[in-house]
Amino acid sequence: MADTSDAEWRYIGKADELAVKKCQRLHSAGGKQMDLALFHHQGRFYAMEAWCSHLGGPLFSGEIEDYKGRCHVMCPWHGYMFDLQNGTNDLGLRQEVHEVKVDSEKVYVRYKTELSLTAA
Ligand code: FES
Repeated sequence: MADTSDAEWRYIGKADELAVKKCQRLHSAGGKQMDLALFHHQGRFYAMEAWCSHLGGPLFSGEIEDYKGRCHVMCPWHGYMFDLQNGTNDLGLRQEVHEVKVDSEKVYVRYKTELSLTAA
């Protein structure tokens, strides 16, 4: 899990609207390198660094797959798999993951910058 010492709960949107897409990009007010990917799979939301730790592929354009009994995102560039819950990968790569909560049908991600579904 990421360092959350300066993180706050950031409102993303309504759960029923966000659940329509399996993968989407969250734009950070801190710049592109701090963007996140938001995933929805089997009724749960997950947030992870947007850019693949292999060579920078966009994980928000990936596919959700069950792999070894756990939910993973498959990077669209070279097919590496990352566990949605802890960001780990079979080859030792790792993505930062961030807490997500749903409160009164609203989705929040705990993160250090504001997040938006659309680019600024
Ligand atoms: S950039 Fe993601 S697997 Fe290579």
